[in-house]
Amino acid sequence: MPGYTSMNPLAGDQAATASLTALGRRYYLPVYRPRELVLERGEGSRVWDIEGREYVDFGGGIAVNALGHRHPTLQAALAAQADKLWHVSNIFYTEPSLRLAEELVNASGFAERVFLCNSGAEANEAAIKLVRKWAAAQGREPERRVILTFEGSFHGRTLATVTATAQPKYQHGYEPLPGGFRYLPFNDVAAVEAAMQAGDVAAILVEPVQGEGGVVPADPGFLSHLRQLCDAHGALLVLDEIQCGMGRTGTLFAHAQDDVVPDIVTLAKALGCGFPIGAMLAGNRVAEAMGLGAHGTTFGGNPLAAAVARAALRTLNSPELLANVQRQSAVLRDALHGLNDALALFDQIRGRGLMLGAVLADSHKGRAGDILDMAAGHGLLLLQAGPDVLRFVPALNITDEELADGVKRLRAALGDFVSGA
Ligand SMILES: Cc1ncc(COP(=O)(O)O)c(C=O)c1O
Repeated sequence: MPGYTSMNPLAGDQAATASLTALGRRYYLPVYRPRELVLERGEGSRVWDIEGREYVDFGGGIAVNALGHRHPTLQAALAAQADKLWHVSNIFYTEPSLRLAEELVNASGFAERVFLCNSGAEANEAAIKLVRKWAAAQGREPERRVILTFEGSFHGRTLATVTATAQPKYQHGYEPLPGGFRYLPFNDVAAVEAAMQAGDVAAILVEPVQGEGGVVPADPGFLSHLRQLCDAHGALLVLDEIQCGMGRTGTLFAHAQDDVVPDIVTLAKALGCGFPIGAMLAGNRVAEAMGLGAHGTTFGGNPLAAAVARAALRTLNSPELLANVQRQSAVLRDALHGLNDALALFDQIRGRGLMLGAVLADSHKGRAGDILDMAAGHGLLLLQAGPDVLRFVPALNITDEELADGVKRLRAALGDFVSGA
């Protein structure tokens, strides 16, 4: 939409951006530092701010907009449902959430039941509670309901999920934290083997590809080792696919590439492609562990969210879309290697599918935020994963032209960064 003109009466001048962002500084709880631009409209992998500036979107709203912006199928699903019914709560059935539950179970190949909620943290919170209920039902005392998680992980911001998140920077100041979590180095099989000997572990919670922790995939074989250890020690394997699931790595579920059968999988982000929704999928060992009244939510399974998620699931789980992920992943990887050959900025380019991380070399450590600023200046929305990693999580339906344009803008931004401009 190159000729896009903003509908905002304040558009076109910097004063509009300044006056709107001032509202954020004045009224928002200051837990974020958004970039000084106000986004107004999107189309595919492009967005425009209120001044009419165009950006290529390589961040996808933090791995959420897996079908880009204003996808016609999602728009149609939302509009059709908006014309029927918005909300009734879980004391009544509605068709979109019933069908979505069935479709998620069928697509998963392992799940028996689904709990629908509104976010990733809620999906993980449900998983943590399910693990504990399951363990309690076996007569395990609270001290023997430990959940192992991994350094560098990210599982959410509620008190329980931030405690599961084995990164002290997210926990600082929120003590006392709930008990029952123990942290281990990621990809360290020996450490997990040793931890299981204590006999108090009820579950292992792990991201098949760590997202916020720096785009770090589980090593080949790591998840199947975890599966074996869980089986040997009577524990559950819980996979957090909130960021890496829903086609992001080239298969609908990331763990399909690791050849493991989990007990619980959590989803959110791309499940609604921008409409808030989360889901916890429960396999046969745990599907009956929570009975009537054991958990709940007012909004979870909301028909608007469920209608969008059904359309998203169908589109994301198509062979064409998943093939595009693999193809564009190779193109983007090659482009990043090419840029690195010229500029020597990165130590490593890692990740899977369209979840890639470029790790800054020692001499540029801590500068990811500066590069993001420069990228925005060149019309590219980019993410970091910590201070040292550039994170690429574009829409999974990104076109050749959009990707090439984004890479061109990235080249310009990195060129400025290297030359100190
Ligand atoms: C792997 C993972 N789990 C959980 C979450 C939390 O999701 P939400 O922000 O929707 O609560 C995130 C968010 O970044 C995530 O990446």
